[in-house]
Amino acid sequence: MSPDSIRLDGRVILVAGAGGQGIGTAAAVLLAQAGATVVAIDRSEEGRATAEAALAASGGDYRVVDCNLEDCDAVRALIDDTTRELGAIRGVLNVVGGIQGGDNFARLLDLSAGEIFDRVMNANLKATFNCSTEAARAMTAQGLGGSIVQIASLTGLVSMPFGAGYGAAKAALINLTRTMAVEWGSAGIRVNALAVGLIRTARSRAVVDDVDDAARQALPLGRVGMPEEIAGAVLFLLSDLASYVTGAVLNVDGGAMARAPYNDASNLPVFVNDSVLRARLLA
Ligand SMILES: NC(=O)c1ccc[n+]([C@@H]2O[C@H](COP(=O)([O-])OP(=O)(O)OC[C@H]3O[C@@H](n4cnc5c(N)ncnc54)[C@H](O)[C@@H]3O)[C@@H](O)[C@H]2O)c1
Repeated sequence: MSPDSIRLDGRVILVAGAGGQGIGTAAAVLLAQAGATVVAIDRSEEGRATAEAALAASGGDYRVVDCNLEDCDAVRALIDDTTRELGAIRGVLNVVGGIQGGDNFARLLDLSAGEIFDRVMNANLKATFNCSTEAARAMTAQGLGGSIVQIASLTGLVSMPFGAGYGAAKAALINLTRTMAVEWGSAGIRVNALAVGLIRTARSRAVVDDVDDAARQALPLGRVGMPEEIAGAVLFLLSDLASYVTGAVLNVDGGAMARAPYNDASNLPVFVNDSVLRARLLA
């Protein structure tokens, strides 16, 4: 192991959902800068144009590919083409997911099972399942092992009131990550998830900018995160520095999960109610 073990020189890494100007785009750029040959996948034309522009500016090696990752046959063809043209696939970052619009915020009692499972669960799990399993099949045949990173969310660890499908899907993704790590460990394939906190991306900007100052300050690091800060954790997990890390869920959340729910907005436990003591602690 050396500090250079963070490098991904010449390794073919798929970034599934690379063109949202958020976590996927930032990670694709950092991976290319770390020497990887990045295969940036996006089903939208706009997303492919975004990935193309960002990767061209990175100075790294890349190709941008059109594929609907919910279509298993299309994913299999993509993996075959990539292997034939670029060589062994050594890593995958699965980004596709999210709450997918305001329609998916609803009270549990107002939802039908069909609405939760067919729409949000599919959007969050299908592409990731396809990409992980087809890549792992290729990695196993190639015999070099590999690393797969799933973009999960804090909501998969706690709860997601009024967004039940999203929370349930991310919890399922965390469970899938562990099962994949165990089933594929003997093939040298590592699988890890990031439990991502509040990140300011092109898509989330409008919401995140509305988070009031008290809520922001209550995060232990006192601010919302940036996509590049998720990319850093992705690079670590894809690199040989993480060679003994598998089945792990790494919180990248500014400390949100470390904070007790009984803390008030100043991070003082609500049961510290002596005003003199409060004033001293907050001074
Ligand atoms: N922003 C946050 O605060 C936050 C917090 C926790 C987790 N996350 C997670 O981060 C991920 C979103 O990352 P982002 O900022 O890069 O996202 P994004 O949603 O902006 O971009 C994702 C890209 O994937 C593409 N895509 C979607 N479905 C696809 C499919 N089936 N096939 C191919 N391409 C497809 C889209 O066209 C888009 O360009 C989600 O998994 C989300 O749950 C975000």
